[in-house]
Amino acid sequence: MTALNQNLDVIILAAGQGTRMKSATIKILHAAAGRPIIDYVLDLAGAICDRPPIIIIGHQRESVQKVVGERARYAVQEEQKGTGHAVLQAAPLVDGARHVLILSGDVPLTRPETLRRLLDEHDRSKNALTLLTMVLDDPAMYGRIVRDDHGAVTRIVEAKDASDDEKQIREVNAGIYVFDGTHLFDNLRNLSTDNAQGEYYLTDLPGVLRDSGRRVGAVIADDPIEALGVNSRADLASVEGEIQRRVVTKLMSEGVTFRNPATVVIDSTVSIGNDTVVYPFVTIEGTTTIGSRCVIEPGVHLTNVNVGDDVHLKTGTVAEDAIIEDEAAVGPYAHLRPGTKLGRRVKVGNFVETKKAVFGEGTKASHLSYIGDAEVGADVNIGAGTITCNYDGVNKHKTVIEDGAFIGSDTQLVAPVRIGKGAYVGAGSTITKDVPAEALALSRTPQRIIEGWATRKKTK
Ligand code: UD1
Ligand code: CA
Repeated sequence: MTALNQNLDVIILAAGQGTRMKSATIKILHAAAGRPIIDYVLDLAGAICDRPPIIIIGHQRESVQKVVGERARYAVQEEQKGTGHAVLQAAPLVDGARHVLILSGDVPLTRPETLRRLLDEHDRSKNALTLLTMVLDDPAMYGRIVRDDHGAVTRIVEAKDASDDEKQIREVNAGIYVFDGTHLFDNLRNLSTDNAQGEYYLTDLPGVLRDSGRRVGAVIADDPIEALGVNSRADLASVEGEIQRRVVTKLMSEGVTFRNPATVVIDSTVSIGNDTVVYPFVTIEGTTTIGSRCVIEPGVHLTNVNVGDDVHLKTGTVAEDAIIEDEAAVGPYAHLRPGTKLGRRVKVGNFVETKKAVFGEGTKASHLSYIGDAEVGADVNIGAGTITCNYDGVNKHKTVIEDGAFIGSDTQLVAPVRIGKGAYVGAGSTITKDVPAEALALSRTPQRIIEGWATRKKTK
């Protein structure tokens, strides 16, 4: 097995557009659980073989190369003349003495264990070709595996070329193969396009090898989901659903509690610490990381957010490109926009919006505020309805509130403006000038009392 791994090249087929997706984007770049489908296939190749795989590109090759980068070597298939023709394009990059594992760029759910089982069987049997198959209740458009009376694989027949009898066969080709390299490329050069799709079928090789007296074997995948190919949006949804289940299962094994795991959407790129509790209908995306002992209530939506330990995110909190440090509490219904950083023990309450705002340790903005382009120190109290007026219609300006300041309710801070350390701003003020440390600033019109005014109005 190890010997075979060192003597292995991996080819990934990814040149086709994927017309059944009805998309402007090539199918292998469609995302499932936050990553393009091709990423999962590259991970799989990486788990099996140290040498970078060879990816066959064609449609939208620049976009594919941008996503795949240095993780693969490239061979270009100028015209998509079939899977056999695709593999042939890798010939100049493969040492024929090696074994060749062929993966499909649109089959992302295969587990490394299953591939190892396939490689072990290939190694043990000395087959010229060992392929992965699966048994389906509805074999649909997959290639059918034809076996002889002794149960040996004789050939694959594509669904479009199959007779009515052959269409009944429920064992199908998963699109994953290990070839002894010496039997691969010469045979590919001799393929014909005499079939329903007028293509060079890689799947003709089992028949060709058998006819020339070589051995062809098959390993049946335990779980057919592992070979599910993404050909349509419905397939994409099935793949995403399976990745979601795997993500949640792994997080649970790492100590995360889910009140209702079937309802959450969590990208495969997300990490969550132990003893964190996730409520139903939570969406966590991108590079988000969450620490230990947090509570993530219903309707929370996080995108690229770093959350510390012991953080409480209450119902309906939305955050993107933000940092929330230990023991902070946010929401319900708060919106932390990009560039927000909440220090330890910060409290941001209901209907508070922040943007490019840094809050020091222990600071509170408990109700109904907008704090944007602001630097707020530690232990600041921001009263209900405080607004940083950061935009003059042309430019954005900064508000600075220093440590220990107290901002009374319903205050407008017209930026650029600075509230000094320990200063007080009286409720209902419109602050247009800097407030020195320890001062009180008030900008209200003095209150007037007119005795008996209401009685006189009524008797008129
Ligand atoms: C293929 C197999 C089928 C198998 C199924 C499993 C063939 C002829 N059929 O069918 O037996 O059951 O996969 O998923 O191989 N590609 C290229 N260049 C081409 C054509 C295809 O790179 O000229 C790539 C595609 O981008 C895709 C992969 O090869 O990643 C498979 O091609 P696709 O058209 O999806 O084949 P299926 O019809 O699914
Ligand atoms: Ca396919």
